[in-house]
Amino acid sequence: MLIRRNKGWEIPERDATPEAIYKDRRQFLKGIAAGSIGASAAALPLGSALAQGTSPTADLYPATRNPAYTVDREITEKAKAVTYNNYYEFGSHKSISSAAQALKLRPWTIKIDGLVEKPIEIDFDELVHKMPLEERVYRFRCVEAWAMTVPWTGFPMKALVDFAKPLSGAKYVEMETATQKDTMPGLRQFWYPWPYIEGLSMAEATNELTLIATGLYGEEIPKQNGAPLRLVTPWKYGFKNIKSIVRFTFTDKRPVSFWEQLNKDEYGFWANVNPKVPHPRWSQASERLLNSGETVPTQIYNGYGDYVADIYKGMDDEKLFM
Ligand code: MTE
Repeated sequence: MLIRRNKGWEIPERDATPEAIYKDRRQFLKGIAAGSIGASAAALPLGSALAQGTSPTADLYPATRNPAYTVDREITEKAKAVTYNNYYEFGSHKSISSAAQALKLRPWTIKIDGLVEKPIEIDFDELVHKMPLEERVYRFRCVEAWAMTVPWTGFPMKALVDFAKPLSGAKYVEMETATQKDTMPGLRQFWYPWPYIEGLSMAEATNELTLIATGLYGEEIPKQNGAPLRLVTPWKYGFKNIKSIVRFTFTDKRPVSFWEQLNKDEYGFWANVNPKVPHPRWSQASERLLNSGETVPTQIYNGYGDYVADIYKGMDDEKLFM
């Protein structure tokens, strides 16, 4: 496990070494969780590997931008947003954009199961044609204290929930990323609890901000950003935004996410952005903009409190901000 830290702005972290696996696996898992989500490497230049081929859904883009969701921040340069990624299935560093081109996008079957009227298996191409696509510009805040502002294309997750017809007992939606052993070298890192899992409460999943993104910058979403469909919850830390989803399970039990399994003291279920609640090892008071390198103050709920603060009323006993 190589952890590189080569920029002054990066958050502090402890390094984990492969030797530790042999010494104490439990301790090692903690180290991975503590360190690797904060790891970074230099961005790759945009190359031919990033070129997106034609696909049966390419004609859906660009979708009309919804002017209700724009922000007063400069949109991040596309070249930065598509070459500085977290996608551990392709490597535990930021420069996975070339490796991610191996991801096989078709066929892509999505399972909807658990507490629903009837379990559904649906092909991505069919699903996306049923959904109301629009473009929205959102801020995005990673738990590592970097931020970007990007135009996603996608559909409200509420439309997917309506399509799924959950039973009244459903309290959460658990989401799961694809596991392609032949294309995802990260899956060989057995100390991670694959598959990548994330979850939302029903109130969060049906909030108007919650988007299932299928596009970015007016085109189909690049593989490294989570093709063909990924979650976007702009008021939460970036790790909630699970990529390349193959399953939505409606459940009455709170899902335990990938990072929570690795280190529950540092990465919780709710993970709402709050500048006043530091990560155990670094401050969350400010964030570094991917575009300019400028550091700006972080806002509660990443500036989306008007949309989401009500969800958490009366939940003071919960760790809402980690
Ligand atoms: N989803 C999967 N399947 N695997 C991952 O490693 N990383 C998360 C999230 N979704 C991750 C994932 C983290 S830590 C972040 S910050 C965002 O994806 C990064 O999204 P981006 O690469 O599009 O900026």
